[in-house]
Amino acid sequence: MPSSQLLAADEVSVEGCLYISIIGGCHFCHTEGYREAEGKIDTEKALKGSSVGWRSPWGTTYASNLRESARVYTEDKWVDYLKNRFTMPPMPWYQVQAMAESDMRSLYLYIKSLGAPGDAAPRSRPPGKEPRTPYVPLEPPQTPRK
Ligand code: HEC
Repeated sequence: MPSSQLLAADEVSVEGCLYISIIGGCHFCHTEGYREAEGKIDTEKALKGSSVGWRSPWGTTYASNLRESARVYTEDKWVDYLKNRFTMPPMPWYQVQAMAESDMRSLYLYIKSLGAPGDAAPRSRPPGKEPRTPYVPLEPPQTPRK
């Protein structure tokens, strides 16, 4: 993609939020194959979540299908969700909470523009249960927020 398309979002826009979704690192975990493809976004899979788990003593978590969350929430609910949600590691909720509200709204428009949500990501696995998918071991382990 030409770098001219990667404009910083100082107002609410779909284009601006492609930028936020990349720089915020959302595709890094929520788009399957993104890391392996060194940042090339497969628009079919973009932000649909991932079946590659993150394993540590708290269990195995999966980056969720953000298209599904955006489908379920109104724009205002989405903003409220991003501002107040604490998730399990390695989801960087502290980075998301630091986002400007206009960026949260742009992100919503961008996710909605991606199309049908498709399937949910696998459910998280409890501690000690062997994951049924490939996973990334988190070593050293990261302690989730109490
Ligand atoms: C290092 C990997 C990683 C990155 C980077 C990341 N996420 Fe996540 N995200 C996850 C994982 C794993 C979960 C599931 C956590 C859990 O099960 O509690 C998650 C969960 C979420 C949830 C909660 C979904 C739900 O079902 O309640 C939201 C919302 C979310 N991420 C948004 C984002 C946004 C927006 C970005 C980019 C700014 C982002 N994430 C970047 C890994 C990541």
